[in-house]
Amino acid sequence: MEHVIELRSVERSFVTEPDFADRVASMFGAKSNAKTLRAVDGIDLTIGPSEVVGLVGESGCGKSTLGRIVAGILPQDKGDVLFNGRMLADKTKLKDGSGLGIQMIFQNPASALDPRQKIGDAIAEAPVAHGLTQRSGARKFALSALQRVGLGEDALDRFPHEFSGGQRQRICIARALAVDPRVVVCDEAVASLDVSIQAQIINLFLDLKQELNLSYLFISHDISVIEHVADRVAVMYLGQIVEIGATRELLENPQHPYTKALLAEVPTLDKNLSEEHALKGELPSPLNPPSGCRFHTRCPVATATCRLERPALEHWKCDHQVRCHVVTAGKQNSGC
Ligand SMILES: Nc1ncnc2c1ncn2[C@@H]1O[C@H](COP(=O)(O)OP(=O)(O)OP(=O)(O)O)[C@@H](O)[C@H]1O
Ligand code: SF4
Ligand SMILES: [Mg+2]
Repeated sequence: MEHVIELRSVERSFVTEPDFADRVASMFGAKSNAKTLRAVDGIDLTIGPSEVVGLVGESGCGKSTLGRIVAGILPQDKGDVLFNGRMLADKTKLKDGSGLGIQMIFQNPASALDPRQKIGDAIAEAPVAHGLTQRSGARKFALSALQRVGLGEDALDRFPHEFSGGQRQRICIARALAVDPRVVVCDEAVASLDVSIQAQIINLFLDLKQELNLSYLFISHDISVIEHVADRVAVMYLGQIVEIGATRELLENPQHPYTKALLAEVPTLDKNLSEEHALKGELPSPLNPPSGCRFHTRCPVATATCRLERPALEHWKCDHQVRCHVVTAGKQNSGC
Protein backbone atom coordinates (compact mmCIF):
# COMPACT_ATOMS: atom_id res chain seq x y z
CA MET A 1 0.00 0.00 0.00
CA GLU A 2 1.30 3.45 -0.89
CA HIS A 3 1.53 5.79 2.07
CA VAL A 4 -0.01 9.24 2.14
CA ILE A 5 2.11 10.10 5.18
CA GLU A 6 5.39 8.50 6.15
CA LEU A 7 7.49 9.48 9.17
CA ARG A 8 11.05 8.22 9.38
CA SER A 9 12.94 8.46 12.68
CA VAL A 10 11.30 11.78 13.54
CA GLU A 11 12.56 13.66 16.61
CA ARG A 12 11.60 16.94 18.22
CA SER A 13 13.01 18.55 21.36
CA PHE A 14 12.14 21.71 23.25
CA VAL A 15 14.51 23.78 25.32
CA THR A 16 12.59 24.57 28.49
CA GLU A 17 12.91 27.85 30.33
CA PRO A 18 14.81 27.71 33.65
CA ASP A 19 12.32 27.42 36.52
CA PHE A 20 12.10 29.85 39.46
CA ALA A 21 14.71 28.00 41.55
CA ASP A 22 17.11 27.95 38.60
CA ARG A 23 16.64 31.69 38.04
CA VAL A 24 17.30 32.48 41.69
CA ALA A 25 20.39 30.25 41.63
CA SER A 26 21.68 31.98 38.49
CA MET A 27 21.30 35.38 40.25
CA PHE A 28 23.84 34.06 42.75
CA GLY A 29 26.23 33.02 40.00
CA ALA A 30 25.14 29.43 39.33
CA LYS A 31 25.21 28.26 35.71
CA SER A 32 21.89 28.79 33.90
CA ASN A 33 19.96 25.55 33.80
CA ALA A 34 17.99 25.46 30.53
CA LYS A 35 16.99 21.85 29.91
CA THR A 36 16.21 19.94 26.75
CA LEU A 37 13.05 17.91 26.63
CA ARG A 38 12.70 15.35 23.86
CA ALA A 39 8.94 15.36 23.22
CA VAL A 40 9.09 13.08 20.18
CA ASP A 41 11.85 10.51 20.06
CA GLY A 42 12.44 8.43 16.94
CA ILE A 43 8.95 7.97 15.50
CA ASP A 44 8.39 5.78 12.44
CA LEU A 45 4.77 5.87 11.30
CA THR A 46 2.77 5.54 8.10
CA ILE A 47 -0.77 6.54 7.21
CA GLY A 48 -2.36 4.99 4.12
CA PRO A 49 -5.00 6.39 1.75
CA SER A 50 -8.40 6.63 3.49
CA GLU A 51 -6.82 5.20 6.63
CA VAL A 52 -7.50 6.43 10.17
CA VAL A 53 -4.57 6.02 12.54
CA GLY A 54 -5.50 6.62 16.17
CA LEU A 55 -2.89 7.98 18.57
CA VAL A 56 -3.31 7.43 22.32
CA GLY A 57 -1.21 7.93 25.44
CA GLU A 58 -1.12 9.86 28.70
CA SER A 59 -1.00 13.63 28.85
CA GLY A 60 2.44 14.95 27.90
CA CYS A 61 3.58 11.86 25.96
CA GLY A 62 4.02 13.88 22.75
CA LYS A 63 0.79 13.32 20.80
CA SER A 64 0.14 16.97 19.89
CA THR A 65 3.80 17.58 19.08
CA LEU A 66 3.71 14.64 16.68
CA GLY A 67 0.38 15.83 15.23
CA ARG A 68 1.76 19.31 14.59
CA ILE A 69 4.82 17.83 12.88
CA VAL A 70 2.58 15.71 10.62
CA ALA A 71 0.47 18.80 9.84
CA GLY A 72 3.63 20.70 8.88
CA ILE A 73 3.09 23.47 11.44
CA LEU A 74 6.01 22.44 13.66
CA PRO A 75 9.31 21.42 12.10
CA GLN A 76 11.02 18.26 13.32
CA ASP A 77 14.65 18.46 14.47
CA LYS A 78 15.63 15.16 12.92
CA GLY A 79 14.13 12.58 10.57
CA ASP A 80 11.89 12.91 7.54
CA VAL A 81 8.19 13.52 7.00
CA LEU A 82 6.92 12.49 3.57
CA PHE A 83 3.55 13.48 2.11
CA ASN A 84 2.56 11.41 -0.94
CA GLY A 85 6.15 10.19 -1.15
CA ARG A 86 7.68 13.70 -1.20
CA MET A 87 9.48 15.45 1.59
CA LEU A 88 7.14 17.75 3.49
CA ALA A 89 8.49 21.29 3.70
CA ASP A 90 8.02 23.47 6.76
CA LYS A 91 4.52 24.83 6.16
CA THR A 92 5.26 27.96 8.11
CA LYS A 93 7.63 28.92 5.28
CA LEU A 94 5.28 28.01 2.42
CA LYS A 95 3.38 30.84 0.79
CA ASP A 96 2.14 29.07 -2.34
CA GLY A 97 -0.54 26.77 -0.94
CA SER A 98 1.46 23.58 -1.46
CA GLY A 99 1.09 22.91 2.27
CA LEU A 100 -2.70 22.77 2.08
CA GLY A 101 -2.87 19.00 1.59
CA ILE A 102 -2.66 18.38 5.35
CA GLN A 103 -4.98 20.25 7.71
CA MET A 104 -5.32 20.19 11.49
CA ILE A 105 -8.41 20.43 13.69
CA PHE A 106 -7.95 21.32 17.35
CA GLN A 107 -9.72 20.62 20.62
CA ASN A 108 -11.17 24.05 21.18
CA PRO A 109 -13.16 25.36 18.21
CA ALA A 110 -13.86 28.66 19.99
CA SER A 111 -10.21 29.69 20.07
CA ALA A 112 -9.58 28.35 16.55
CA LEU A 113 -12.00 30.92 15.07
CA ASP A 114 -11.53 34.69 14.96
CA PRO A 115 -14.45 36.12 17.01
CA ARG A 116 -14.66 39.19 14.72
CA GLN A 117 -14.73 37.31 11.43
CA LYS A 118 -17.99 36.16 9.83
CA ILE A 119 -18.17 32.41 9.24
CA GLY A 120 -18.43 32.74 5.46
CA ASP A 121 -15.29 34.89 5.36
CA ALA A 122 -13.40 32.52 7.68
CA ILE A 123 -14.15 29.56 5.42
CA ALA A 124 -13.41 31.31 2.11
CA GLU A 125 -10.24 33.12 3.27
CA ALA A 126 -7.66 30.39 2.49
CA PRO A 127 -9.35 29.12 -0.72
CA VAL A 128 -9.45 32.70 -2.10
CA ALA A 129 -5.85 33.39 -1.03
CA HIS A 130 -4.66 30.24 -2.78
CA GLY A 131 -6.76 30.64 -5.92
CA LEU A 132 -9.10 27.71 -5.28
CA THR A 133 -12.00 30.09 -5.91
CA GLN A 134 -12.43 33.66 -7.19
CA ARG A 135 -13.37 36.35 -4.69
CA SER A 136 -16.64 36.77 -6.60
CA GLY A 137 -17.52 33.12 -6.01
CA ALA A 138 -16.34 33.01 -2.38
CA ARG A 139 -19.83 33.08 -0.83
CA LYS A 140 -21.08 30.18 -2.90
CA PHE A 141 -17.87 28.28 -2.19
CA ALA A 142 -18.22 28.82 1.57
CA LEU A 143 -21.88 27.76 1.44
CA SER A 144 -21.07 24.44 -0.20
CA ALA A 145 -18.36 23.84 2.44
CA LEU A 146 -20.90 24.56 5.20
CA GLN A 147 -23.52 22.30 3.64
CA ARG A 148 -21.02 19.47 3.62
CA VAL A 149 -20.92 19.61 7.43
CA GLY A 150 -24.68 19.98 7.87
CA LEU A 151 -24.94 23.79 8.23
CA GLY A 152 -26.86 26.18 6.00
CA GLU A 153 -26.87 29.60 4.37
CA ASP A 154 -27.96 31.36 7.57
CA ALA A 155 -24.51 30.59 9.06
CA LEU A 156 -22.59 32.61 6.46
CA ASP A 157 -23.05 36.08 7.98
CA ARG A 158 -23.00 35.10 11.62
CA PHE A 159 -20.10 35.21 14.10
CA PRO A 160 -18.57 32.29 16.06
CA HIS A 161 -20.18 33.24 19.41
CA GLU A 162 -23.64 32.71 17.86
CA PHE A 163 -23.02 28.94 17.56
CA SER A 164 -22.87 26.01 19.99
CA GLY A 165 -19.61 24.11 20.58
CA GLY A 166 -20.63 21.31 18.22
CA GLN A 167 -21.62 23.78 15.49
CA ARG A 168 -18.34 25.64 15.91
CA GLN A 169 -16.43 22.38 15.46
CA ARG A 170 -18.48 21.73 12.29
CA ILE A 171 -17.39 25.19 11.07
CA CYS A 172 -13.73 24.36 11.80
CA ILE A 173 -14.12 21.11 9.86
CA ALA A 174 -15.75 22.98 6.95
CA ARG A 175 -12.88 25.47 6.95
CA ALA A 176 -10.23 22.73 7.00
CA LEU A 177 -11.90 20.80 4.18
CA ALA A 178 -12.47 23.90 2.03
CA VAL A 179 -8.86 23.68 0.80
CA ASP A 180 -9.37 20.06 -0.32
CA PRO A 181 -6.81 18.31 1.92
CA ARG A 182 -5.88 14.63 1.68
CA VAL A 183 -4.98 14.27 5.37
CA VAL A 184 -6.58 15.75 8.48
CA VAL A 185 -4.88 15.70 11.87
CA CYS A 186 -7.59 15.75 14.55
CA ASP A 187 -6.11 16.68 17.94
CA GLU A 188 -8.66 15.85 20.65
CA ALA A 189 -11.20 17.23 18.19
CA VAL A 190 -14.23 15.99 20.14
CA ALA A 191 -12.84 16.22 23.68
CA SER A 192 -14.47 19.56 24.54
CA LEU A 193 -17.95 18.53 23.34
CA ASP A 194 -20.89 16.93 25.18
CA VAL A 195 -21.00 13.16 24.76
CA SER A 196 -24.12 13.24 22.53
CA ILE A 197 -22.51 15.87 20.28
CA GLN A 198 -19.24 13.91 20.23
CA ALA A 199 -21.02 11.01 18.55
CA GLN A 200 -22.45 13.32 15.87
CA ILE A 201 -19.05 14.87 15.09
CA ILE A 202 -17.33 11.47 15.03
CA ASN A 203 -19.95 10.23 12.55
CA LEU A 204 -19.40 13.37 10.49
CA PHE A 205 -15.65 12.66 10.40
CA LEU A 206 -16.33 9.10 9.25
CA ASP A 207 -18.87 10.17 6.58
CA LEU A 208 -16.44 12.78 5.23
CA LYS A 209 -13.66 10.22 5.16
CA GLN A 210 -15.79 7.99 2.92
CA GLU A 211 -17.02 10.84 0.75
CA LEU A 212 -13.65 12.55 0.22
CA ASN A 213 -11.20 9.63 0.64
CA LEU A 214 -9.52 11.39 3.55
CA SER A 215 -6.83 9.98 5.82
CA TYR A 216 -6.79 10.96 9.47
CA LEU A 217 -4.30 11.03 12.30
CA PHE A 218 -6.83 10.93 15.11
CA ILE A 219 -5.40 11.94 18.48
CA SER A 220 -7.51 11.18 21.53
CA HIS A 221 -7.02 10.29 25.16
CA ASP A 222 -10.38 8.45 24.92
CA ILE A 223 -9.78 4.88 23.79
CA SER A 224 -13.48 4.22 23.20
CA VAL A 225 -13.46 7.06 20.64
CA ILE A 226 -10.36 5.59 19.01
CA GLU A 227 -11.94 2.12 18.99
CA HIS A 228 -14.83 3.56 17.02
CA VAL A 229 -12.89 5.54 14.39
CA ALA A 230 -9.43 4.04 13.88
CA ASP A 231 -8.23 1.36 11.46
CA ARG A 232 -4.92 1.18 13.34
CA VAL A 233 -3.88 2.41 16.77
CA ALA A 234 -0.49 3.70 17.92
CA VAL A 235 0.21 3.89 21.67
CA MET A 236 2.75 6.52 22.78
CA TYR A 237 4.74 6.66 26.00
CA LEU A 238 7.28 9.42 26.75
CA GLY A 239 7.82 10.36 23.12
CA GLN A 240 7.98 6.86 21.65
CA ILE A 241 5.50 4.49 20.03
CA VAL A 242 5.43 1.42 22.28
CA GLU A 243 2.78 -0.57 20.43
CA ILE A 244 0.98 -0.22 17.11
CA GLY A 245 -1.44 -2.48 15.34
CA ALA A 246 -4.78 -2.99 13.64
CA THR A 247 -7.43 -1.64 16.02
CA ARG A 248 -9.28 -4.88 16.74
CA GLU A 249 -6.05 -6.87 17.05
CA LEU A 250 -4.44 -4.34 19.40
CA LEU A 251 -7.48 -3.82 21.62
CA GLU A 252 -8.32 -7.52 21.87
CA ASN A 253 -4.77 -8.79 22.09
CA PRO A 254 -2.67 -6.03 23.72
CA GLN A 255 0.93 -7.08 24.40
CA HIS A 256 2.78 -4.10 25.87
CA PRO A 257 2.31 -3.71 29.65
CA TYR A 258 1.58 0.01 29.15
CA THR A 259 -1.19 -0.69 26.62
CA LYS A 260 -2.66 -3.26 29.00
CA ALA A 261 -2.60 -0.65 31.76
CA LEU A 262 -4.34 1.94 29.56
CA LEU A 263 -7.02 -0.56 28.53
CA ALA A 264 -7.53 -1.69 32.12
CA GLU A 265 -8.66 1.88 32.84
CA VAL A 266 -11.49 1.66 30.29
CA PRO A 267 -14.17 -0.49 31.94
CA THR A 268 -16.51 -0.32 28.94
CA LEU A 269 -13.99 -2.20 26.81
CA ASP A 270 -14.27 -5.24 29.10
CA LYS A 271 -11.09 -6.88 27.86
CA ASN A 272 -10.56 -8.95 31.01
CA LEU A 273 -7.66 -6.77 32.10
CA SER A 274 -7.50 -6.80 35.84
CA GLU A 275 -6.11 -4.75 38.72
CA GLU A 276 -2.66 -6.30 38.22
CA HIS A 277 -2.33 -4.46 34.88
CA ALA A 278 -3.43 -1.06 36.25
CA LEU A 279 -1.03 1.85 35.91
CA LYS A 280 1.14 2.41 38.97
CA GLY A 281 3.23 5.40 39.91
CA GLU A 282 3.64 8.81 38.35
CA LEU A 283 4.64 9.50 34.78
CA PRO A 284 8.41 10.20 34.95
CA SER A 285 9.56 13.66 33.90
CA PRO A 286 10.22 13.80 30.15
CA LEU A 287 13.19 16.05 31.05
CA ASN A 288 14.88 13.06 32.59
CA PRO A 289 13.35 9.88 31.12
CA PRO A 290 14.28 6.50 32.62
CA SER A 291 17.19 4.56 31.14
CA GLY A 292 16.63 1.40 29.11
CA CYS A 293 12.91 0.88 28.58
CA ARG A 294 11.20 4.14 29.48
CA PHE A 295 8.32 2.24 31.08
CA HIS A 296 10.50 0.20 33.46
CA THR A 297 9.78 2.39 36.51
CA ARG A 298 6.07 1.50 36.31
CA CYS A 299 6.15 -1.91 34.65
CA PRO A 300 4.93 -4.90 36.70
CA VAL A 301 7.08 -7.37 34.74
CA ALA A 302 10.31 -5.37 34.30
CA THR A 303 13.59 -7.31 34.39
CA ALA A 304 17.18 -6.16 34.96
CA THR A 305 17.66 -5.92 31.18
CA CYS A 306 14.76 -3.47 30.96
CA ARG A 307 16.64 -0.96 33.11
CA LEU A 308 19.70 -1.07 30.86
CA GLU A 309 18.70 -1.75 27.26
CA ARG A 310 16.30 0.21 25.09
CA PRO A 311 13.85 -2.16 23.42
CA ALA A 312 13.16 -1.74 19.68
CA LEU A 313 9.71 -1.69 18.10
CA GLU A 314 9.44 -5.21 16.68
CA HIS A 315 6.84 -7.24 14.82
CA TRP A 316 4.70 -9.44 17.01
CA LYS A 317 2.43 -10.24 14.13
CA CYS A 318 2.32 -8.73 10.64
CA ASP A 319 -0.25 -6.16 11.72
CA HIS A 320 1.08 -5.68 15.24
CA GLN A 321 4.40 -4.26 16.56
CA VAL A 322 5.54 -4.00 20.18
CA ARG A 323 8.48 -2.31 21.96
CA CYS A 324 9.16 -4.69 24.87
CA HIS A 325 12.01 -7.09 25.68
CA VAL A 326 9.76 -9.56 27.47
CA VAL A 327 7.13 -9.68 24.74
CA THR A 328 9.56 -10.02 21.87
CA ALA A 329 11.63 -12.65 23.74
CA GLY A 330 8.55 -14.87 23.84
CA LYS A 331 7.30 -14.22 20.33
CA GLN A 332 6.72 -16.84 17.69
CA ASN A 333 8.07 -16.12 14.21
CA SER A 334 5.91 -13.23 13.06
CA GLY A 335 6.57 -14.09 9.42
CA CYS A 336 7.04 -10.38 8.61
N1 LIG B 1 6.47 24.69 22.97
C1 LIG B 1 6.90 23.89 23.95
N2 LIG B 1 7.92 24.26 24.76
C2 LIG B 1 8.39 23.45 25.75
N3 LIG B 1 7.87 22.22 26.00
C3 LIG B 1 6.85 21.80 25.23
C4 LIG B 1 6.31 22.61 24.17
N4 LIG B 1 5.30 21.91 23.57
C5 LIG B 1 5.21 20.74 24.23
N5 LIG B 1 6.14 20.67 25.21
C6 LIG B 1 6.37 19.54 26.12
O1 LIG B 1 6.51 18.38 25.32
C7 LIG B 1 5.89 17.27 25.94
C8 LIG B 1 4.86 16.72 24.99
O2 LIG B 1 3.81 17.67 24.89
P1 LIG B 1 2.53 17.39 23.99
O3 LIG B 1 1.67 18.61 24.07
O4 LIG B 1 2.94 16.95 22.64
O5 LIG B 1 1.83 16.17 24.75
P2 LIG B 1 0.38 15.55 24.57
O6 LIG B 1 0.56 14.07 24.51
O7 LIG B 1 -0.31 16.18 23.42
O8 LIG B 1 -0.34 15.93 25.93
P3 LIG B 1 -1.90 16.23 26.21
O9 LIG B 1 -2.59 14.89 26.20
O10 LIG B 1 -1.91 16.87 27.55
O11 LIG B 1 -2.41 17.14 25.12
C9 LIG B 1 5.31 17.77 27.26
O12 LIG B 1 6.22 17.48 28.28
C10 LIG B 1 5.18 19.25 27.03
O13 LIG B 1 5.29 19.97 28.25
S1 SF4 C 1 10.77 -3.79 28.12
FE1 SF4 C 1 10.67 -4.45 30.23
S2 SF4 C 1 10.07 -2.62 31.39
FE2 SF4 C 1 9.65 -2.24 29.24
S3 SF4 C 1 7.53 -2.79 29.00
FE3 SF4 C 1 8.71 -4.58 28.45
S4 SF4 C 1 8.87 -5.77 30.34
FE4 SF4 C 1 8.19 -3.72 30.93
MG1 LIG D 1 -2.07 17.30 23.25
